Amino acid sequence: MHCTLIVCTFLSFCVSFSNGAACKDGDHKGENDPKSKDNDVDTATGLSVLLDRNDGKTVFDCCGFIKQWEFYAKKNTGTVHFQVWRPAGTSYSLVGENLYTVTSGNEDKEIKYSLLTANRIGIQSGDVIGIYQPGSVIVSHKQEGSSNQYRTTTSVGSLSVGSTFDWSAVTQSNNRKYAIRADVTNGNNPSITNLAATVTGTDATPIGTLLFTLTVADADTSDTLTTTMTTTTSLFNFDSTSLQVTSAQQLPSGTTTLNFQVTDACGSTGTGTLTIVVTNVPPVIHNLPYNTDVTEDQTAELQLYVINATDTSEYDTVTCSIQSVSPTTSIFFTKIASGSLYGIYIQAYPSLSYDSVNAYTLTVACTDSKDTVTGLFHVYITRNNAPVFTNLQASVNVTSKTPTSTSIYTVTSSDAEGDQLYYNMTCSSTPCPFAIYHSGEVRSTDSLESYTVAGYDLFIYVYDGTTLVGPKTLTVIVTDINSAPILTNLPLSSPVSVSENSALGVSVFQVSYSDIDTSDTHVILATFSPSSGGSIFTVDSTNGLITTSSTTNINYESLATSTVVVNVHVSDGTAFATSSLTISIMDVNEAPVFGKTLYQITGTEGNAGTAVGTPGFDVTDPDNGATQKYSIDCPEFNMDQTTAAVTLAANYDLDVTGTSSQVTCNVSVSDGELTATSALQVTINDVNDNTPSFGQPSYTFYAQPNEAVGSVIGSIVATDADVGAFGTISYTLDQVSLGNEYFGVQSNGDFYLKTGLTTFSSGQTLSLTATVTDSGGLTDTAAVTIVIPESTTAAPTTTTDRHVTFLEDPKNIAWLSAAVVILCGIVCLMVYQSFRFGDYSRLARWCQRSRSKKLQKPRNHYRRTYYQSPRVRDIPELEYPSPALESDWRPWRVRTHEL
Ligand SMILES: *[C@@H]1O[C@H](CO)[C@@H](O)[C@H](O)[C@H]1NC(C)=O
Ligand SMILES: *[C@@H]1O[C@H](CO)[C@@H](O)[C@H](O)[C@H]1NC(C)=O
Ligand SMILES: *[C@@H]1O[C@H](CO)[C@@H](O)[C@H](O)[C@H]1NC(C)=O
Ligand SMILES: *[C@@H]1O[C@H](CO)[C@@H](O)[C@H](O)[C@H]1NC(C)=O
Repeated sequence: MHCTLIVCTFLSFCVSFSNGAACKDGDHKGENDPKSKDNDVDTATGLSVLLDRNDGKTVFDCCGFIKQWEFYAKKNTGTVHFQVWRPAGTSYSLVGENLYTVTSGNEDKEIKYSLLTANRIGIQSGDVIGIYQPGSVIVSHKQEGSSNQYRTTTSVGSLSVGSTFDWSAVTQSNNRKYAIRADVTNGNNPSITNLAATVTGTDATPIGTLLFTLTVADADTSDTLTTTMTTTTSLFNFDSTSLQVTSAQQLPSGTTTLNFQVTDACGSTGTGTLTIVVTNVPPVIHNLPYNTDVTEDQTAELQLYVINATDTSEYDTVTCSIQSVSPTTSIFFTKIASGSLYGIYIQAYPSLSYDSVNAYTLTVACTDSKDTVTGLFHVYITRNNAPVFTNLQASVNVTSKTPTSTSIYTVTSSDAEGDQLYYNMTCSSTPCPFAIYHSGEVRSTDSLESYTVAGYDLFIYVYDGTTLVGPKTLTVIVTDINSAPILTNLPLSSPVSVSENSALGVSVFQVSYSDIDTSDTHVILATFSPSSGGSIFTVDSTNGLITTSSTTNINYESLATSTVVVNVHVSDGTAFATSSLTISIMDVNEAPVFGKTLYQITGTEGNAGTAVGTPGFDVTDPDNGATQKYSIDCPEFNMDQTTAAVTLAANYDLDVTGTSSQVTCNVSVSDGELTATSALQVTINDVNDNTPSFGQPSYTFYAQPNEAVGSVIGSIVATDADVGAFGTISYTLDQVSLGNEYFGVQSNGDFYLKTGLTTFSSGQTLSLTATVTDSGGLTDTAAVTIVIPESTTAAPTTTTDRHVTFLEDPKNIAWLSAAVVILCGIVCLMVYQSFRFGDYSRLARWCQRSRSKKLQKPRNHYRRTYYQSPRVRDIPELEYPSPALESDWRPWRVRTHEL
């Protein structure tokens, strides 16, 4: 039966064995007493026996060694092979054998064959005992039991250890016990014999270097030993066959402990520790000490040297720095120059002076962070003087016929140290048909004929290997090349402004130009954008003066755009220059304009506010969006400032004497700033605004029955305040009730007898109605009564008789005299008051009135209301009493009659 044994040496290291538990020293397999099985011996020669008893009595069940064979030698002499077979699949392999030779005289004896350690066969669970006797059979057996299996054959023969034989092909037999016994023992522990140990190396050790070889041993020399490294590491390799420890990679400095274990076939172990100490190899500076020179006029940062410092260990990075400088300065420093190599540098503008310090010694230190090595670096300062030009600046004349590679000038310079000097240059124009050579010679590099530039400035440098001096200018003038004119005051940074309606032909801008070729004749032309600009601006092709057009006014409102770009072109006949300026046209407020010098409207008289009419003004204003306000200067009229509608400012009555029916006024229109005027003729038509009126509601006249036909018996004159057509009145009488037309009225109002009244008796009264009508159809009526008096009585005078005149009455003379005295007193009082209180108005008014009365006929009259006979209606001017107080008078407008 197989047993699986797990041997765990360390927690983390387990090896599984199927070789069975360790054998106990003294245990055995086979017969307890081989002598008791001395019954029979086979007679064959070269017989091999396999004792694969099913009960396991001849099959090992532990792992260990056979230390002694014991058997019974029944008869015969010769060699016996005591064998151990191990199943291998269906076959068996020969694990080992001990040979014992039975010599004469030892027949019929029980023999104990004790094995030296070196000869002991290692066994495992499952191994089977076998016997091979090359000659006659010596070991006896006994026929016994019903099982006790075994196999015998002569076809195995003599085999070397490790060979195999397929015992399954040999028939298994029963009922034999062989006189043989194998005593086992547990075997010895293996050991690593040369550990613990310590090996030392460097971090420069190459990969694969053999560091140590383990030696292992086991007293059981036939034992199978397995050695492993139980430490997990990628730094070292361990070969379990050669037992060599090698470096698996570049080793970092430090100490590593490696554990090893050796295990034998039965799982017994031995351990050992190998300590590997890796030490650092310092870096190496390969290229110090070293010397270098630096010129004293060094200005740029400069790399002086690249330090070649290396370290054999790939784990180490070498850094280099300047440890100290003598004399002390901080102008030197190190930094990575390329890859991992450090350079020594001098900083920009180090202010070196040969006379102050002409050498520096730098101690450069390189370290791998464990060990530091140093080296010396010497910097020697050299004196330097800059080269000096000796014939620049300069100017040369060349012709345009100069061919390629013609030397035109040789620049010379000197250098105090006699350094090799190098020249180079830049040029004012590209392409530049000149080059300078290191000899200082300046040559044409092309035929100048194909160039149009009249002159070049060559900016020349000289370099002494240390200092670049320059530039100094060599001016090359190509004497016979036309040079283009140059516009000197264009382009402009801002537009030129021109107002609309500017005067014609006024100057806008003077184009200026220059030309090296002073004898050239120049023509100045311009194009305009938009091209319409050409109609409002012109350019004088001779003097370059840009002016407004001499014929076309600039009207801002009609422009497509308010800016005009003038592209100016100045030509000398061969070459030209162009540039442009922008003219910005400014809008100017323009006055509104009346289309006519006179407008007419017609209205009618009326009260203040009455509409007269709206003149059809045809005002235009060139400015877009301008607004107009209208006004009129006649006080009689108002004008709506927006609609221009005219209304009466005060009552307008044509019936008032002197009131004109046609007034011409000045009208104005304003855009808020500018004004235009025109005339407005206002015609006011008369209207029939007054009704004719009899002076009284009724008239009474007397007439004798024999009154002569045609005699005037009274007056019924009526008045009409309208002047003109509407003031024309006519009279009619309604005498239908009288049955005849007895009376008539003349156009002057005289009431006269038309037919004799003889048919009427005395004392009779006749009534009729008089009507007055004006031409507008307005009427008034009055009742007229005609009394026919008793024939015996004298007819009374008619009431149409007038009173005596004012001055005819002696009573009035006295009254008037008194009134004149009072009036003079009042006048004196008014004059006094006016001077005292500064109020001249009353006086002025009064004086005005007084003067008017004297100098002209008044338009408005003030007449005292006093009794008046119905017959008396007209009062002569001279009859007016002087007014005492103005308030005593009320206005009464009346038509005056010429005296
Ligand atoms: C540095 O010095 C070593 C030894 O002289 C040489 O082999 C190596 O090529 C050098 N490295 C450089 C970059 O010069
Ligand atoms: C070059 O030509 C100009 C004009 O002809 C003259 O004034 C000048 O002196 C010349 N320069 C040289 C270096 O010949
Ligand atoms: C002229 O040479 C100097 C020194 O070699 C160089 O630094 C400089 O850039 C060069 N200038 C031109 C214009 O080639
Ligand atoms: C109208 O204006 C003209 C010119 O200013 C002036 O002579 C005239 O008297 C004015 N007419 C009236 C009615 O104001």
